[in-house]
Amino acid sequence: MKYYLNILICFLLMSSSIWAQSDGQTDFNKDWKFYKGEMKGGEAASLNDQNWRNVRIPHDWAIEGPFSKEYNARSGGLPFHGEGWYRKHFMLTNTQKNKHVAIEFEGIMNNSEVWINGHYLGKRPFGYLGFEYDLTPYLNLDGNNIIAVKVKPEDLSSRWFPGAGMYRKVWLNINNDVRVNHWGTFVKTHNVTSRVATIDIQVEVQNFLMNDEIVSIKNKVINANGDVVKELQQKTVAVGKETIKTQQAFNMLQPQLWSIDTPNLYHLVTEVINKEGEVLDTYRSRFGVRDIKFTAKEGFFLNGELTKFKGVCLHHDLGPLGAAVNRRATQRQLEIMKEMGVNAIRTSHNPPSREQLEICDELGLLVLDEAFDEWGIQKIENGYHKVFDEWHERDLRDMIRRDRNHPSIIMWSIGNEIKEQGVKDGWKVAQKLAKICHEEDPSRPNTAGFNQYVSAIKNKLAHQVDIVGFNYKAAKYEEVKKNHPDWIVYGSETESITSSRGVYHSTFLEKYKKNTDNQITSYDIIGPTWSYPPDMEFYFLEQNPSILGEFMWTGFDYFGEPTPYGGRDNSTNGYWNSDWPNKSSFFGAVDLCGFKKDRFYLYQSQWTDAPMLHLLPHWNWKGYEGQEIPVFAYTNAEEVELFLNGKSLGKKKKGVDKGIIPIQFRYYEGPYEFPSPYRLRWDVPYQKGELKAISYIDGKVVEEKIINTHLKAKTIELTADRAIISSDDGEDLVFVTARAIDTNGNFCSTFNGDIQFSVSGDGTFEATGNGDPSSLVVPNSSKLKFFNGMALVIARANEGKGGFINITAKGKGLKFKTITVKTEVQDKKVQ
Ligand code: GAL
Repeated sequence: MKYYLNILICFLLMSSSIWAQSDGQTDFNKDWKFYKGEMKGGEAASLNDQNWRNVRIPHDWAIEGPFSKEYNARSGGLPFHGEGWYRKHFMLTNTQKNKHVAIEFEGIMNNSEVWINGHYLGKRPFGYLGFEYDLTPYLNLDGNNIIAVKVKPEDLSSRWFPGAGMYRKVWLNINNDVRVNHWGTFVKTHNVTSRVATIDIQVEVQNFLMNDEIVSIKNKVINANGDVVKELQQKTVAVGKETIKTQQAFNMLQPQLWSIDTPNLYHLVTEVINKEGEVLDTYRSRFGVRDIKFTAKEGFFLNGELTKFKGVCLHHDLGPLGAAVNRRATQRQLEIMKEMGVNAIRTSHNPPSREQLEICDELGLLVLDEAFDEWGIQKIENGYHKVFDEWHERDLRDMIRRDRNHPSIIMWSIGNEIKEQGVKDGWKVAQKLAKICHEEDPSRPNTAGFNQYVSAIKNKLAHQVDIVGFNYKAAKYEEVKKNHPDWIVYGSETESITSSRGVYHSTFLEKYKKNTDNQITSYDIIGPTWSYPPDMEFYFLEQNPSILGEFMWTGFDYFGEPTPYGGRDNSTNGYWNSDWPNKSSFFGAVDLCGFKKDRFYLYQSQWTDAPMLHLLPHWNWKGYEGQEIPVFAYTNAEEVELFLNGKSLGKKKKGVDKGIIPIQFRYYEGPYEFPSPYRLRWDVPYQKGELKAISYIDGKVVEEKIINTHLKAKTIELTADRAIISSDDGEDLVFVTARAIDTNGNFCSTFNGDIQFSVSGDGTFEATGNGDPSSLVVPNSSKLKFFNGMALVIARANEGKGGFINITAKGKGLKFKTITVKTEVQDKKVQ
């Protein structure tokens, strides 16, 4: 039975870099040895690994390339499959010798197996979740210890680029014999108002000893100013060789609520104290206090406020950095999404990195945390279906236990477009997974994204989840709600329009097709048969106000799935190499480098209030003089006036003077043209010079945008995303954008010449990119080409006391440029 949800939830904690963690958690990411290839006896303690490469974790061997037709373009055309080995040698310090020692991996992609000193610890097929192994019984207390990790991803195992290797962080957890269990805290809040909230704290205490121990559990709740708002203490018996659960609760007065605009966080500091008053473990968890409520009639409420999902789906890769997790790269990605007006992220189609969830908590982004893209029935030859029976329960429970304290998470998704939709008994699997979600976390609803509109309903699969997500069914919202008025429904995946940043073909509003330049024109109207322009989702959501909102596909481009090149239908199995060199997606509103495409601004015009105005296409159309070129303005102002070389081409009112766009998509029976109230359109006979738009509100000028016909590129403009970065731990990155500029200072939007970067001083070169889905230049090359006037270099700050990083860009015929970025100690450690 579909149940009506009225959920009051709260959570708390404080900021820093890691959630949740024991003070016994130590950095274990440096000085790993790596070997790519098969290695018989790679786990043996006696193996000589001196000549193996030194790497630092997180590490993604696949992003090192090369891009090759030998690999599947569907998963990025990169060598992610095959065997790889990691080894690390370590000795225990004197204080660590009597401790309980465990190793924690936050995720290994994938099919990992781990050994310590030749003893087998276990395997984990799923690459998207972390796990811990106990090392204590096998440690050499006084000698060398060797951890060996074998990783063996299979070809044809992912519909996108998964990355390969130890791509998330690794820790050594050094604790006393009684400690807080791994992921052992759960803070729930009930009856939340701005005046009071009930905070319910569950702590699991693990005793590795044979005998029982009497311990006190002290829970301190600390607000964002560092004030202790509550201290609770409870005595209990930690039963020998067992894990016990404790529960404490209190009413918090005047809670600082977590919301999209004010993402307030609290810390819970849990101490396990023995009879002698000695603190055995200190464990920190972060949470937020907030109330979520879903209704079938009105939609989703956050702290009582009706909130529509302005969501994006994101895959987990970080463009030129591949899948190797980096906090700053993740933060930059999410900041760009926030700027677009995004308030929700769907972690398609797998559990995300810890960093991503922490940053969503910090930035005020809602999260739909998704578990699987495949259940027991195959989508792709070596996909998750091969291990589903054995592992789904463990994986799903682990995802929820790992992530349950994040205030950003509002729903658990049990799957995306799973094949069980089309099978008579498919609903039984859904029922089982939905039950697991309720058992692990009664405070949040579960959901799934259905694409088989008819069969997912007919076979009762959609009836099993609390919230029904539909992929690409905007035109069916009305019908669904008519037939199932008690269902709570949203667009779990929408749009799927394809475009290349800065590309406009001379056929202008062309049809969905493959082009000889391997690109897709950027008028935001072109996509596969199931897709439709953003305008259609905006329109149908307005027509159906009870729908909770949408998650567009996708916020960022990602490696893999270069639709329409190589595979027009996303259920096509096998290799997608017929249109090589295309190997990364065209679906993003933002390209692989974080450069905004036109679509970014279309969403921004609907999803934000701060004045914005965007104009397209470029204005370099030599040979097309006199020909009418469709010009679009995206704005959140009331009116826009367009001028060509100073002459007004008329004022247009948003919502009234509708911009006509072609549309055609599955499940839509309407006319071929849609007068879009979301765009303004002029058909302008081309004449070189200055195209200018001015926006107005209440008749007053708000903004001006100019696009000039540019001349030859003469110089390079460099801009860093931040002027000062941290030298604390050698992990901070600076992203420097290069733009080609002509002698008049105009941006050269059609320039595709060479560029070479170099990095010197207190930082190192990390990666480059240009956002071209058909470029075969690997990110670790410092030489590449501009793509439509832009290129990116990423540099990493050295660990130390700080200094300066110099980043230089050169290009043939261009005046070279250097930019200097400061690095300094920022000491952002956990308080
Ligand atoms: C969806 C699918 C996504 C992606 C997208 C491309 O059907 O869920 O993973 O393949 O299509 O349009």
